[in-house]
This record gives sequence, structure tokens and C-alpha cells, in this order.
Amino acid sequence: MNILIVGGGGREYVIAAKLRENPRVKRIYAAPGNGGMAAFCTLVPLKATDIEGICRFAKENSIDYAVVAQDDPLCLGMVDALKEIGVESFGPTKAAAQIEGSKVFAKKLMKKYGIPTAACECFDSYASALEYVKTAPVPIVVKADGLALGKGVIICESREEAAEALKTIILDKKFGASGESVVIEEFLTGPEVSVLAFTDGKTVVPMVSSMDHKRALDGDRGLNTGGMGTIAPNPFYTKEVAERAMKEIFVPTIEAMNAEGRPFKGCLYFGLMITKDGPKVIEYNCRFGDPEAQVVLPLMKSDLLTVMLATTNGTLDRTPVEFFSGAACCVIIASGGYPVSYGKGYKIYGIEEAEKTALVCHAGTKEDENGDIVTSGGRVLGVVARAETLSNAVDAAYAAADKITFKDAFMRRDIGARALKLLEG
Ligand code: AMP
Ligand code: GLY
Repeated sequence: MNILIVGGGGREYVIAAKLRENPRVKRIYAAPGNGGMAAFCTLVPLKATDIEGICRFAKENSIDYAVVAQDDPLCLGMVDALKEIGVESFGPTKAAAQIEGSKVFAKKLMKKYGIPTAACECFDSYASALEYVKTAPVPIVVKADGLALGKGVIICESREEAAEALKTIILDKKFGASGESVVIEEFLTGPEVSVLAFTDGKTVVPMVSSMDHKRALDGDRGLNTGGMGTIAPNPFYTKEVAERAMKEIFVPTIEAMNAEGRPFKGCLYFGLMITKDGPKVIEYNCRFGDPEAQVVLPLMKSDLLTVMLATTNGTLDRTPVEFFSGAACCVIIASGGYPVSYGKGYKIYGIEEAEKTALVCHAGTKEDENGDIVTSGGRVLGVVARAETLSNAVDAAYAAADKITFKDAFMRRDIGARALKLLEG
């Protein structure tokens, strides 16, 4: 089979690495891919959002199956466009991707179908939103409606901060059209867990749980990022919580999307907070998390391509999805200045050394004209280790990450610390 992966980060790297394990896979193309994927994929110099270009490429290169891994092409309707030219894909349609593409849509869905989430109000004018926050309880959370690279969420300690957040999102348009509407919601507390689930629109199969570390700096300080590291499984996600989440959140969400005429196929990401009243939805994503995929997929025992095809064909109920029993840790090495501004083009040293004991998922890398791997993004590499225990996985991921250097590189030093503290009591 010829497979096309749409995207070019660490998530796409690990998806490609996992798909390669299936002998039926003849060739993997990646649009646009990254410097590390070039070692085992054919890079296609097209933007992940270039629907027309990617459809043309798929047709001309006999693509048998596409994996649309990134949020923006999904929300723009890449899966629908590929289907129109006869190419099946892993991922939801444009209508179903709205579950991530519009927080207003997601919140209204949860309200309508009684799915546990933070209480909220939605607004599409500055004046009405401002009026609301004047008497709202604080802390309060203000979210831009649309996609904003994980940055459109502002946690406000005071009403003044909330008013400022509304100005930033609605009037100053810091997140562009994403901020034409806002969600203002109740501030929840509790440990967070990411649960990625395969679904064919009928059956939902949760994968091993994980924990992201979203803030840039140790101790959960600094700005929100796309994610600075992950561990799996997440020890806060007990069997009891998992059972409640399945019954109260996962199954009702799949049913709600069907009832709305937007059946969801692909990977549905449940960002949950485990509150004292049980698990509640913080966000939905219409795709694998990044860097959640970098710990979840290496723990997957079943063949990824078989499971992906089952989500597309509607045969997930007959397809085993199994995971290894151990743990995994991914440490992101980022460019100094991320998530705001950072330099690019710095030569990276030590990848081969790190690869002796870990999986190095390239994200923001490219091959320069001399054939050297250089930095080209904020999150540069994800160093992943698997072990029988979480403690060993964390140690192994850091030992390997420490072999890698480039100018202004930085990483968090406490990935997994909160989980280990819980496990060690
Ligand atoms: P999101 O992009 O919606 O996942 O939000 C980013 C981060 O903001 C989440 O991972 C949480 O840590 C935090 N957050 C979002 N919504 C809430 C909420 N209602 N209460 C507390 N924290 C929240
Ligand atoms: N790591 C969070 C996300 O993929 O949205």
C-alpha cells in the first residue's frame, strides 16, 4: 500500500514509524513531513492545509490510504476532499472535526446531551461577554472559539483579567477569526488526563491513558505550549475513573455526534479533568495528541494500520486493539524562546547516540543543503523511552535526551514527576 501522512510534527513521525511495521506498507509519503521522516518517508513539499495540492498529489501517486493527522486540514475538510477523488483516509469529516474546530459547537453538544464538562456561556459580541464577566465568579476561563495552537485559553484570576482576555481575543483579534466567538467557563481543578480513542462511529476503543505537560517551564509555570512532554499510562486515571468516563463521556459523545448527523471516525481525543464530582471534559480534539501519540503508539501492541482501516471501514468491533503493560515517557527538546519566538537553522548533535537507547521523534527539524539535521520549529525533538515501570521510562528518556544538543535547546526536567509522586505515595 502507498500511504500519505498529512502533517509534519512529532506525532506524524511516530505514526509513520508505527505504520512501517506493517509489511503491506510499501511506501509512505509525508506532506510536508520533517527532517527525520525523510529517512523512511518520501517528503512531499506541500503544506498540510493545501487541500487541492494534496488531492492532486494523491491521485497522481496512487495513494491507497491517507492519514490526516493534523487539526487544521481536518477542520478544513481534507478527508471529505480526498474521499471525493476516491481516496479513503483515517480521520473525521469536516462536519465531525467541528468537535475540535469550534469550542462553541463542542460546549453546546455537551450541554444538549448531558456530557459532564465545565459550566459555560458562549458569546459572539464583546459587549455581552464583558457584561457577563462583570458579575461572574472568579477564577474564570476565557477561550477563543476556533483553533489557536493550544494558546487560545486564558485562565483569569480576576474580573479585570477576564475583561482584558476578552479584549485580546475579540477586539485585538490575537487569534484571528478563531476569536470571533468566545466560551467563558467555570474554572475546574483536578489532575488532567488525555485519553485518545479509536472510533468508527459505532464502537469506541480507548487507548492507554496519558498525561501531557502543557506549560513551558518546570513546576507547571510559564506559558501554555503544544505540550512539553508526556507519560503513559496516567496513574490518576484509575479503573473506576475509566469506567465512569466510558459510560458518561466516551459512549455519549459518539452517540451525540451520530444524533447530530456528524458521525466521528478516526481518533477522538478526550482532554479530561478528574474533579471531585468525577471526570469532566476540558476539550475534545479530532486527532491524536502531540506529544501524547509519542507515548501511546509505542505502547500499542496491535498493528496500527489494521486498526486505522477498521475505523474507516466500520469494523472496529471485530478488531483487537491491544497495548503493552509497561510505561513510556516522552521529553520534548524545544528551541529557546518557544512558544513565543525562537531561532531556526541550528545544527543538532547527538541524535544517533540517543537513538541507541530511545526513539527520537523528529518534530521541528529539517535536512539542510549539507545533509545536516537542523532545527526548524519550536518543538524540535521528542525523546521517547519505554520500560516496565514509569520511573525507568522517565530515567531512560532523560538519559537519551541529555545526549542531544543544539544552540539554545531547553527541556523541562520534571516530565512525569507528578505521576511518580502519586505512584510512590
Ligand atoms: P484546552 O486548550 O482547552 O485544553 O486548555 C488548555 C489548558 O487550560 C488545559 O489543559 C487546562 O490545563 C486549562 N484549562 C482549560 N479549561 C479549563 C477549566 N475550565 N478549568 C481549569 N483549567 C482549564
Ligand atoms: N498535546 C495536546 C494536543 O495535542 O492538543
